Amino acid sequence: MREVAVIGVGMNKWGELWEKSMRDIFVEAALLAMDDAGVKKIEALYVGSMSPGIFAGQEHLESLLTDYLGQCPIPAARVESACASGGLAMRTGWMDVALGLHDIVMVSGVEKMLDVDGGTATYALATAADQEWEGYNGATFPGLYAMMAHAYQHKYKISDDRFRDMLAAVSVKNHANGYLNEKAQFRLKMTMEGVKTSTMVADPLRLMDCSPITDGAAAAILCPVDVAKKKFKHHPIVKVLGTGAATDTIALHSREDMTWLRGTEVAAKEAYKMAGMTPQKIDFAEVHDCFTIAEICVIEALGFFKPGKGCTAALEGKTARDGIIPINPSGGLKSKGHPVGATGIAQIVEVTNQLRGEAGKRQLPKAKIGLTQNMGGSGGTTLVHIFKGEK
Ligand code: COA
Repeated sequence: MREVAVIGVGMNKWGELWEKSMRDIFVEAALLAMDDAGVKKIEALYVGSMSPGIFAGQEHLESLLTDYLGQCPIPAARVESACASGGLAMRTGWMDVALGLHDIVMVSGVEKMLDVDGGTATYALATAADQEWEGYNGATFPGLYAMMAHAYQHKYKISDDRFRDMLAAVSVKNHANGYLNEKAQFRLKMTMEGVKTSTMVADPLRLMDCSPITDGAAAAILCPVDVAKKKFKHHPIVKVLGTGAATDTIALHSREDMTWLRGTEVAAKEAYKMAGMTPQKIDFAEVHDCFTIAEICVIEALGFFKPGKGCTAALEGKTARDGIIPINPSGGLKSKGHPVGATGIAQIVEVTNQLRGEAGKRQLPKAKIGLTQNMGGSGGTTLVHIFKGEK
């Protein structure tokens, strides 16, 4: 297998983009990534998108997007893994380059979620849950993650007030990071009080515990490391050290422990093994904080914190920009936004910029090894990638 590098990244400004269509925002992000890499032609395209049929009435993205990007005729595929569609696009593109099929491959993600009403968006998202057991009975993702939160609080015997603070601290930290990100949807300076008094969505999760509904796209260009070293020397090389993927049961009630993300644990172990890494060697990570409780469970499953200890990490500043393991320096899904198919690729955009030393105001002082964790549904699929910057 060939070693793979990320040579270009781009994303558009995320938010409510009424004036643009899905193809517009995809092309914007894709051209930014191509400019960043210094390429005019790609050899293959993988695009993650969860539900363009419901959100935008459009399927068959392979043809649409390669056409509007001016790249026809090339091999292309849309991949779908709910909110982990972007992460799956990355793994698919990595396999293509590693196996030697193509040298210049775009991995990307797009979702235009705000052209439909909130009820339709919630329905579209809920199709990623178990329809017969969860969706049909009225469960939505805020509701499912609220159940995970209750299970966590119960398991570790945490008082209501203390647990409320633990959740709020994740949101405050991610908004503080996202405030510095000009591409973020919600650049707000949040206070603990602001989170704790925001509108209740699904007890104990309030509005400021939830990622939003977002229009957005992101793209990255992959190529073999030896080609990158010869032809694409204008940025420091960012190597893909490891990739991991795993499923878990789609329905929450089928899990032995609703607080443990087994898919994330297994995907991370695969990625750590391939990269020759341990959790302790990771400098920072972009993780799937679709709800505040998700970030807490994810950082435990990745091995950054022991079970039952992830909940105090944000409160004690351990995951802040100057903490022992900064989590979500981009602002995460909470502040940056969550256009589901694009999220996994936007994590790679942030990690690449950090590893190159090009993250501007958000630049972390120690950024040599970065990790991304992108999750579908309530953890039914997870993709983990590990990257190394060679400045
Ligand atoms: N964080 C911060 N502000 C938010 C927000 C969020 N998550 N969601 C909406 N807002 C803001 C809106 O901008 C709007 O502000 P304005 O009044 O100043 O214009 C206000 O809150 C109300 O917005 P609205 O769209 O009416 O909110 P809503 O109640 O319909 O939706 C949620 C709020 C939390 C239910 C919705 O964002 C949601 O479903 N999020 C979860 C998405 C999800 O499940 N993703 C998949 C994860 S696996």
